[in-house]
Amino acid sequence: MKRAVCPGTFDPMTNGHLDIIERASAVFDEIVVAVALSPEKGGGPLFTIDERVEMVAKATEHLPNVSVRPFDSLLVDLARQVGATIIVKGLRAVTDFEREFQMAQLNYRIDDEIETMFIVAIPEYMYLSSSAVKEIAGHGGVVEGLVPANVNERLVGRLRKGR
Ligand code: PNS
Repeated sequence: MKRAVCPGTFDPMTNGHLDIIERASAVFDEIVVAVALSPEKGGGPLFTIDERVEMVAKATEHLPNVSVRPFDSLLVDLARQVGATIIVKGLRAVTDFEREFQMAQLNYRIDDEIETMFIVAIPEYMYLSSSAVKEIAGHGGVVEGLVPANVNERLVGRLRKGR
């Protein structure tokens, strides 16, 4: 039984995240999507932890071996807690590489029984990010096709209120 953790801030989840989770769910027996509280991130996340967990849960409800949970600890501690031996992450353009490489090295140093593995983003999502999506939507641009439908609804509602 190979259980993997797929961590991130998911503020909000994009179709790039969803693609990685779908592909990971075909490789591993179980995927636990771990949504980080990440209060320190760029002025704080747009969506609360509960909203982010809910959006990921709704967008992945077609995947029976995927579950979602929040976390506010070291990632390797969460992995141990849920019985996962793999951290699976998406890798986009080369700009991701240095940060991901650093995190993978540090996580391995903290617990060498947990392996980090990467799934390379498809070209369509190579430059897609949560922050770009928020920027486009914040200026009234269309993000349909870049995020799951339920995320699009929330995003439009949230940013319209804030205008
Ligand atoms: O979506 P993100 O913001 O790239 O995800 C980053 C995340 C949440 C995976 C990373 O910040 C993380 O693992 N945070 C938990 C704290 C931790 O374990 N830090 C040590 C790794 S260097």
